[in-house]
Amino acid sequence: MENKKIFVNFKMHFSEDEVSCYLQNIRGKIKCKDVVFFPSNLYSYMFLKEHYKVGLQNIYKENVGAYTGEVSAYQASSMGIEYALIGHSERRNLFHEKNSDIAKKICVATENDVTAVLCVGETKKERLFHREKKVVKKQIKEALKNIKTGEYLILAYEPIWAIGGMESLCLKEIEAMVLYIRKIIQKYFPNVVIPILYGGSIHEENIKELLTLKEVDGFLIGSASLDFKKLLKIIEVAVPM
Ligand code: PGA
Repeated sequence: MENKKIFVNFKMHFSEDEVSCYLQNIRGKIKCKDVVFFPSNLYSYMFLKEHYKVGLQNIYKENVGAYTGEVSAYQASSMGIEYALIGHSERRNLFHEKNSDIAKKICVATENDVTAVLCVGETKKERLFHREKKVVKKQIKEALKNIKTGEYLILAYEPIWAIGGMESLCLKEIEAMVLYIRKIIQKYFPNVVIPILYGGSIHEENIKELLTLKEVDGFLIGSASLDFKKLLKIIEVAVPM
């Protein structure tokens, strides 16, 4: 059985000293190609120095130019950064990212050999009105409209209302959505390889049951990872050394 992927999104947490302390606490306890850290851009170098796989939490839709404050896949790639989250719900909601921007970001990521991790998911209201499939289908179709045969990317399904709390979908509902997403990919993008992650309120107590989901290739973890002990517990069961 293949190891599950564990992607760790620190969002805008930690100072340099705190990252340093975190790294000290996990040193020698994670030796796995299936774990990828998404720290604040400023601290990427600290994870790279310790030979962890690293991703950016966002990239700009161009490679170089006069875009004050932005960071590109071209720059990330030159440093050995291999992944980029694209279209995380916080980017969509707080920074008004559109599917058209997301499609461009996926193109520049793949052009630069950075694996795009496309995040999709519905709001609580959309789920209440049974619109989750429609919403996610639109997000996927519009974001991947320029994708070419043979390209590789990862998709993370995260119901927005399940992020950052203790509320999550039940196993059956996750499985149904992941199977649906696979169907969409097979239908519209049959020549692209896309593992599917699940994310939203994953912690050390629910990881065991989530691991029983055969259709899910890995997990995107936010809040729980801020405590290194919780992250180590998750990794211990999901990707044993
Ligand atoms: P959470 O965040 O684990 O805190 O729900 C996941 C994410 O935002 O990717």
